[in-house]
Amino acid sequence: MHNVVISGTGLFTPAQSISNEELVESFNTWVQQFNADNADAIERGEVEAQAESNAAFIEKASGIKSRFVMDKAGILDPQRMKPLLPERSNEEQSILCEMAVSAALMALQRAGRTAADVDGVIVACSNLQRPYPAIAIEVQAALGIQGFAFDMNVACSSATFGIQTAANSVQLGQARAVLMVNPEVCTAHLNFRDRDSHFIFGDGATAVLIERADLATSAHQFEIVSSKLLTQFSNNIRNNFGFLNRTAEDGEGAADKLFVQEGRKVFREVCPMVAELIAQHLAENDLQASDVRRFWLHQANLSMNHLIVKKLVGHEVAEEDAPVILDRYANTSSAGSVIALHLYQDDLPKGALGVLSSFGAGYSIGSVILRKL
Ligand code: COA
Repeated sequence: MHNVVISGTGLFTPAQSISNEELVESFNTWVQQFNADNADAIERGEVEAQAESNAAFIEKASGIKSRFVMDKAGILDPQRMKPLLPERSNEEQSILCEMAVSAALMALQRAGRTAADVDGVIVACSNLQRPYPAIAIEVQAALGIQGFAFDMNVACSSATFGIQTAANSVQLGQARAVLMVNPEVCTAHLNFRDRDSHFIFGDGATAVLIERADLATSAHQFEIVSSKLLTQFSNNIRNNFGFLNRTAEDGEGAADKLFVQEGRKVFREVCPMVAELIAQHLAENDLQASDVRRFWLHQANLSMNHLIVKKLVGHEVAEEDAPVILDRYANTSSAGSVIALHLYQDDLPKGALGVLSSFGAGYSIGSVILRKL
């Protein structure tokens, strides 16, 4: 069995971003138009009037101030309210592949590695743009990597599940290094006409190179001390989009074919599960929460992260102990915790312990204990 390290991380940030104010202005224009168009039916009680959104509510309830997006104009157009991402020919790189490659090249560069040093690619994300051929195989070809590649989806937890899967291959000697990539166009599965959730997501991509410790030469290494995963079925975060939709025409295009959640229930149920899993994981490794210098948590809601860390360490912690990227990136699903890891790692001293943790639909939770080398 080989020891395994994360030898490089990478991040792709889209060029455009949308502030809460811009998003709310577009939403409220749509609300006013909807209510005017349906005034009579609303009056008769046949249609429910839509309520306006509010930028101050969004920041207070979630911690989100703005989000990076792949297409700003399409989302903000009150007649459209979804990104405009034209279809590409089969000869062009797919949009997920392009984002993944950008993040992957940065991870390779930070690891001091080239495609020739890598034996596998895993694309792990919430929304794969097609069933096949795997996006990972397209990324593999684009980068010129030999070996194997496959896609996996564990919703917001995809990155930690992907890291464990990649680490297993490297540990067993099946690969010298595996690139694990998380391209997320979350705005394409978000219902921008749903006041409860229209502000939640942003787009981005992350990459992590997982390598055999005895081969790694990077100056940015973290030993993967241990990983622990947990799933428990819940309907509280759900998306019913899929290939069977066309076989039941009456449901096609309905709101449940996009992201839907019971946000309050998710908050209440997931926080204790995450804190318990991390505490258990640390205990199994003879560690305590107070030994952990940094928590790179999934970025869905600021209060959620505060509560989880407080449950773990028993008190509020400084922002540098549990870095926040949610304010700028919103929830980027599987990419969120890895964006935090990527942006907030270089200041840590050798030997410092960190926990990378993701959580989301499934429910699914992942915890990865890392030691800076
Ligand atoms: N603008 C203004 N008011 C809004 C609003 C908006 N956009 N959306 C909801 N409200 C109102 C509601 O109508 C409600 O009003 P009421 O008290 O009069 O009934 C009030 O604000 C509170 O709504 P609620 O949905 O209970 O807010 P919340 O505090 O639970 O925050 C979330 C909502 C989604 C931010 C929060 O529940 C959350 O982040 N949950 C976890 C989500 C998560 O992690 N999901 C994982 C996805 S991978």
